[in-house]
Amino acid sequence: MCGIFGYVGKRTDAGVIAIDGLKNLEYRGYDSWGIACKDGKTLDVKKDIGPIGDIQSDQFGGKACSLSIAHTRWATHGGVTQRNAHPHLCEDGTIAVVHNGIVENYLELRRDLKAKGHTFQSETDTEVIPHLIEEELKKTGDFAEAVRTACLHFDGRYAILALHTESNMLVAARTGSPLIIGVDRQQNGIDGYFIASDIPAFMKHTRVVQYLDDGEMVSTDGKTITFQDIKTGDKRPKREIAITWNVEQAQKGDYEHFMLKEIMDQKESVARAVNQDEGEIRTIAEAIRRAKGTFLVACGTAAKACMAAEYFFSVVAEHHVNVAPASEFKLFHHFLKPDSLLIVVSQSGETADVLEAMRVARDKGSKVLAIVNVEGSTIDREADYTLLINAGPERAVPSTKALTGQLAILLLIAYALAERLKEGRTLLLETTSSLNDMLNPRFVERLETLAEKIQSEEDLYIIGKSWNYPMALESAIKIQEVSYVHAEGFAAGELKHGPIALIEEGTPCIVLTGNDEALQDILSNAQELKARGAMIIGIGPKKFDVFDEWIKVPEAGTAQAILNIIPIQVLAYFLAVKRGKNPDMPRNLAKSVTVK
Ligand code: M6R
Repeated sequence: MCGIFGYVGKRTDAGVIAIDGLKNLEYRGYDSWGIACKDGKTLDVKKDIGPIGDIQSDQFGGKACSLSIAHTRWATHGGVTQRNAHPHLCEDGTIAVVHNGIVENYLELRRDLKAKGHTFQSETDTEVIPHLIEEELKKTGDFAEAVRTACLHFDGRYAILALHTESNMLVAARTGSPLIIGVDRQQNGIDGYFIASDIPAFMKHTRVVQYLDDGEMVSTDGKTITFQDIKTGDKRPKREIAITWNVEQAQKGDYEHFMLKEIMDQKESVARAVNQDEGEIRTIAEAIRRAKGTFLVACGTAAKACMAAEYFFSVVAEHHVNVAPASEFKLFHHFLKPDSLLIVVSQSGETADVLEAMRVARDKGSKVLAIVNVEGSTIDREADYTLLINAGPERAVPSTKALTGQLAILLLIAYALAERLKEGRTLLLETTSSLNDMLNPRFVERLETLAEKIQSEEDLYIIGKSWNYPMALESAIKIQEVSYVHAEGFAAGELKHGPIALIEEGTPCIVLTGNDEALQDILSNAQELKARGAMIIGIGPKKFDVFDEWIKVPEAGTAQAILNIIPIQVLAYFLAVKRGKNPDMPRNLAKSVTVK
């Protein structure tokens, strides 16, 4: 997802702030970037493709400037070129716009604007926005109103941030992607406002935020701020919220990559996830018991947590739940009733497919429970009820600590449903303590050595049974996305129905085990692989002869999935690093996927 940043206020280093803001949004992934600063009466614009790199404040933005916008772009309409990078300007250069999302009817708008004499420099859909605002501005002379009426012409879901040199204003609007306002309040009152697509962009300057909701716009000159409904123009009240996590939690510290830091954070984050209010967990369990159908819905890694939860609910509570990837959920809307319950799981709280699933459920009158990491995110605000994962900011694109928090909360709910909440909490707290012991330097080194050994392999397979099956699927995602090794996960018993044909002499196969009823079956499956020449890497509490390599993981009973996925995360990290890839920013991926 693209990154958006803007500042207006008393500070005179808006260029430096913008560069810094963009660097704090780099984790979302991007292919090009750009900054516009008001320099006197005109705009100083710098754009480029590739990483922001070492751009220094004296090369750009070092001049006194109090109004800036900036952007990191993921190309959708128009290739990765300097011209297509944002910001885009209007005809007379007084309006600059950065944008996340798609203006679906841009071709039609572009044709009309061309007929009115506007010229275009890029192939993007975004460029119609400043030109259209310019046209609207001619009608009233009011910049905020011009942005509002321009928005009424756009089809699609978007977040835009527009700067106007004449009125010295920033105006932002959203119908989809997130935008958050940072309030720069000093002793003498308001010093300015930040507007960004994520809090880390301005967190160093303020931890007081205001969230822009879907269908809302905000306008500010750095002294005052106004929130309005885009459709009607009506003013909206807006609460200020203090962010509870701190800057250090959002930074890498001594780690080379966020991914490794976030893997290590799990020593504390899982315990924070488990530390939920017992009364609330019981109320949720009761809602699940009473619901006419409970649906667990999420995307990617979070969807694998939901799949694992299906086993938790079955084994621990003997209760049936339905699980679907959010992108498929719409097709099951017939099964939703006013007394059905939708449970959505999301790290970012901004995933478009999940938000759509929530809207489908709301249309049917069903209630929505969100298990979400980012407090104040759209999913958090739109759900009827939220449980926070409390993993702290997760900035690497690969999700690690959010997943183990999600698994812990879902397992806790399953225990509550079985009326064994105390037992579940004790098990999970013991598991977090095992996790703490396990993530020691020797363990990490062992996985680095294993990564060294298999780094040149082209294919890697992972098998699991029971809750280890979704963890096998998750293992594949983790390895694929950061190392670009072809990895696939299978239900162990499915091997003989096709995938085993892929096995050749020396093919590395990871076998996820637990000390449970699935153990004997999966060991037989491992034997089948070995008989075809596979190199077997066992992950689990016990060593078996069939393993060529064994990564020891403490025994955790029904919480085994939480521990078994940790060595995979570390292995994936080292596979990426050894293959020269940046695990924090995998190619073609964004941290939160706000488009369908
Ligand atoms: O923010 P969310 O948890 O809703 O994101 C869902 C997926 O996009 C996410 O888990 C994705 O699969 C990760 N890159 C996996 O590491």
